Amino acid sequence: MLDKATIKNPDTLRHSVLDFRQMSAFVENPLIFERGEGVFVWDIDGNRYYDGLSGVFVVAVGHQNQRVIGAIKEQMDRISFSPPLHGTNRHAVELAALLAELAPGDLNAVKLLSSGSEATEIAMKAARQFWKQSGKPTKYKFISRYYGYHGSTLGAMSATGTPSRRAPFEPLAAGYVHVPTVHCYHCPYQKTYPECGVFCAEYLRQVIELEGADTVAAVIVEPIGNTGGILVPPDEYLPKLRQICDDYDVLLIFDEMICGMGRSGDMFSALTFGVTPDMLCLGKGLSSGYAPLAATIWSDRIQQAFWGPEEDGVEFGDGHTFSGNPIASVAGLASIREILERDLVANGRAVGQVLASRLHAMADTFGIFGEIRGKGLLWGVELAQNLETHEPFPAALKLGKRIGAEAQKRGLIMRHDPGWFALAPPLISTESDIHAMCDILEDAIATVLEEIR
Ligand SMILES: Cc1ncc(COP(=O)(O)O)c(C=O)c1O
Repeated sequence: MLDKATIKNPDTLRHSVLDFRQMSAFVENPLIFERGEGVFVWDIDGNRYYDGLSGVFVVAVGHQNQRVIGAIKEQMDRISFSPPLHGTNRHAVELAALLAELAPGDLNAVKLLSSGSEATEIAMKAARQFWKQSGKPTKYKFISRYYGYHGSTLGAMSATGTPSRRAPFEPLAAGYVHVPTVHCYHCPYQKTYPECGVFCAEYLRQVIELEGADTVAAVIVEPIGNTGGILVPPDEYLPKLRQICDDYDVLLIFDEMICGMGRSGDMFSALTFGVTPDMLCLGKGLSSGYAPLAATIWSDRIQQAFWGPEEDGVEFGDGHTFSGNPIASVAGLASIREILERDLVANGRAVGQVLASRLHAMADTFGIFGEIRGKGLLWGVELAQNLETHEPFPAALKLGKRIGAEAQKRGLIMRHDPGWFALAPPLISTESDIHAMCDILEDAIATVLEEIR
């Protein structure tokens, strides 16, 4: 094992490529995690941090959950890998059945995967094959939103609508259409809710008609958008999308990577908003990060197209070596049981309210919070220098990032962007954990404001 000094040495670190990170800067001041416990993580130098982001919206049941670890260890002693091509294993079967039971409506068929990008990619592949096998083979296009994020692989990236994420890889796949995001605070249509009549949803109708409904396979959206600062749609938005998709026989896919698994105050955001999609994509909190695990769940109607005599060749033509991996399945089952049996969804909802009220109090203190948005235990703050006009601070000031960096110095990890920040601590957080995190955040904001004023 390499010693600490060697691990932190830029000469050793230069062999690593991190996600979305400028490595030349990272190697100068690297953050290297060493261990975790509950809502805390420690770095290699022994500094303790509140994990205000559950990793990256992942560690729902907290770090070092002994039940999940115990289940994984036990499984390791039985079988660690089972080939998904020849068969399955009891835990993958049990996890699929449990997810089908928990998911709303007739979302009953579960494809187990290893990452969120796979889950959205597979949803789109299943949608195309479904239409080919359902008498509408010309339906192939996907409509998603600008500023949506659906993953890193080329198909998922093609659906992604965040310009900076897409640009390095263009041209991306054909057949992807984007519509403006839902962002009432900066409405892309310059309308005001509720007088707008949720025009952003209605606009989808026009786009489907212009593209030709017979060419559109599916609409894919995050029920609550992350990029842009936890974008919660108005209550009517998702029911309207559902209605429009039904009107034109277009599938509706929810990407619940971040907002699923209890994060939005219910087990799935589909339940929070009372809308059942045709496909539901899960990852991140599904295994709480104890093993790579994701899932795409689809409806009986879709599954019907892949069901039939073997000689028909209608099976879903997709495979992944680690699909239904027994270790990952056991991790998922144990994590979900923790959530259910300890009612962590209710806990997340309750402490989420404490977090929201602390944020509202900070808004009064500092006068720079344009909008506080969230559900359950997922909260974002959009920063504004003019609360009347919603004018943001100059991007070059990187205010959100500076607040995030100050918070990190003081022992709180959170999501931060130049214009906003977000908190999504583990669902096991207590009220006093939330207060401690907010105390650190308050200090961080006060320090940054002193610097810039
Ligand atoms: C909404 C959403 N979809 C898909 C993904 C991709 O998941 P993964 O990074 O596990 O491939 C992410 C990851 O952050 C996400 O936030």
